Amino acid sequence: MSQQAIQSEVLKVLAERHSVKEYQAGHKMPKEHLEQLLTSTTQAPSSWNLQHWKFVVIEDQAYKEKLLPIAYGQKQIVESSVVIAVLGDLEANKNYELVFGPLLEAGHMPKELYDNLAGQVEGAYKYPQVARDEAVRNASLAAMQLMIAAKALGYETCPMGGYDAARFVKEFNVPERYVPVMLISVGLPAKPARPSGRLSLDQVTVANTF
Ligand SMILES: Cc1cc2nc3c(=O)[nH]c(=O)nc-3n(C[C@H](O)[C@H](O)[C@H](O)COP(=O)(O)O)c2cc1C
Repeated sequence: MSQQAIQSEVLKVLAERHSVKEYQAGHKMPKEHLEQLLTSTTQAPSSWNLQHWKFVVIEDQAYKEKLLPIAYGQKQIVESSVVIAVLGDLEANKNYELVFGPLLEAGHMPKELYDNLAGQVEGAYKYPQVARDEAVRNASLAAMQLMIAAKALGYETCPMGGYDAARFVKEFNVPERYVPVMLISVGLPAKPARPSGRLSLDQVTVANTF
């Protein structure tokens, strides 16, 4: 594919992603699509590559029904093919060895760099606020990547912050290690998204400095 074709396809996907709230109820996403969706999602960048995310993949109708009141009755929960609860990892520093250990062992990373980065991570994770900011920041990048990947696979999505996170934690047995970031419904559209506008670039940009 030429550079120009890639550019126009990617920009088209970005321009055409909108929050779809009405889905073809009962549609089941093929396993290969779900796997591709999650694989593309986890290709998102993250601080120190610690991959501060966890995904609760809610496909069973019974669990969607359980989630419905927690999400204040938003019907995309029960009508979409799958709802993905994106969680941030408050203890992503624990992923350090998992991520960098193999690189060290394979000789792709000098020991000095391994120790240096480990020191940075442990230093940062002494502060709970840093752990929380990192969890939400990095899981949000994965969430955005998920919505774009879904669109590329022919699905529509709706991100949702409108749910009772504390109740979700309780009823879905979320361990203390994770913080809920958002829910995302994914499915085939029954109706297009409502039109949504954007502020102008003048309204949202500042040249060089405030
Ligand atoms: C963090 C976040 C939380 C949101 N929560 C909800 C929600 O609970 N319910 C809903 O219908 N839409 C929700 N939205 C969708 C926004 O309303 C939507 O993205 C915005 O109006 C722009 O429209 P568009 O996505 O169709 O371009 C949320 C979006 C984001 C990014």
